[in-house]
Amino acid sequence: MKDILTLGIESSCDETSVSIVKNGREVLSNVINSQIKIHEKFGGVVPEIASRNHVEVISEVTKQSLKEAGKDINEIDLIACTYGPGLVGALLVGVSYGKALAYALNKPLIGTNHIKGHIAANYITHKELKPPFLCLIISGGHTHLVHIKDYNDFEILGKTRDDAIGEAFDKVARVIGLGYPGGPKVDKLAKEGEPNIELPKTHLDNLDFSFSGIKTAVINLHHKNPNVNKADLCASFEKTVTEILVQNTIKAARKLNINTIALAGGVSANSYIRKEFLNLEKTNNMKIYYPDPILCTDNAAMIASAGYYSYISGEISNLELNAVPNLKI
Ligand SMILES: Nc1ncnc2c1ncn2[C@@H]1O[C@H](COP(=O)(O)OP(=O)(O)OP(=O)(O)O)[C@@H](O)[C@H]1O
Ligand SMILES: [Mg+2]
Repeated sequence: MKDILTLGIESSCDETSVSIVKNGREVLSNVINSQIKIHEKFGGVVPEIASRNHVEVISEVTKQSLKEAGKDINEIDLIACTYGPGLVGALLVGVSYGKALAYALNKPLIGTNHIKGHIAANYITHKELKPPFLCLIISGGHTHLVHIKDYNDFEILGKTRDDAIGEAFDKVARVIGLGYPGGPKVDKLAKEGEPNIELPKTHLDNLDFSFSGIKTAVINLHHKNPNVNKADLCASFEKTVTEILVQNTIKAARKLNINTIALAGGVSANSYIRKEFLNLEKTNNMKIYYPDPILCTDNAAMIASAGYYSYISGEISNLELNAVPNLKI
């Protein structure tokens, strides 16, 4: 069969990324232009500034990606762009750019769900991974337990009722003065601390999650006692949220009788979470997968991979494609 080259475009938040991926799994290039430095001084992403920066850099990022892949634009077989969920202005830049490329090159356009992209990051890192499996998506905006029945057949088993786990990490980091983005900073500091602070765990009857209670508890604790050991607080926060993630995942795995678990999304780069999930291979006879750290956070390689699998199953968009900020999986 002829190789299929997908050009993926990601612009849903504060990363402008373009990637060339062969046959859905082999990354030829994955250029990521992060705006972290620009938004850092505001303590979070400023949507309008994000959109403007996407416009400024997207052509250059595309050229660089083609160059690194050693490909000419005419060799590309399909264009996959994120059309949701995300910030509407930011999404529109990638969607418009993708539409223009698809029209000019007369190639299929695949509007791609960002969250399906996070899941697909696992296909790039683990060439042997195939559905069915269970995926725990832990990102800046989502905490979802999903049964991946096939490449394009998903069932949500549980999700957060309030904050996404990434939001909780970022909020905790901000309150104790670690800055933005908080997740990696909490990860680093937690390694120097002991998980010796009792924090509340919200147990729900079903497979849903809730992180607003623990987030508020950390904020209150820090306000009442600003001298609390920050490293211990980070370690305790990580330990408590990881216990919740692990418990729900085991519950879902038993319910469905599935032993293959993949983690996805920015928070799956967390070293403590990765370690604790890997332990399940020994203690619960599970097989645990997670993407390479660079593929955990936003990037276009995962979008190209998810777009490729949509294309294979005949899900092709037309030029009416629009951004859908609250797109569900
Ligand atoms: N090592 C880490 N430990 C914990 N959290 C992390 C780590 N690295 C990144 N994160 C968190 O991951 C989140 C970003 O992930 P991601 O890029 O997947 O989210 P998003 O694109 O903003 O949201 P979504 O994908 O849900 O739309 C941030 O909340 C960040 O703090
Ligand atoms: Mg994301």
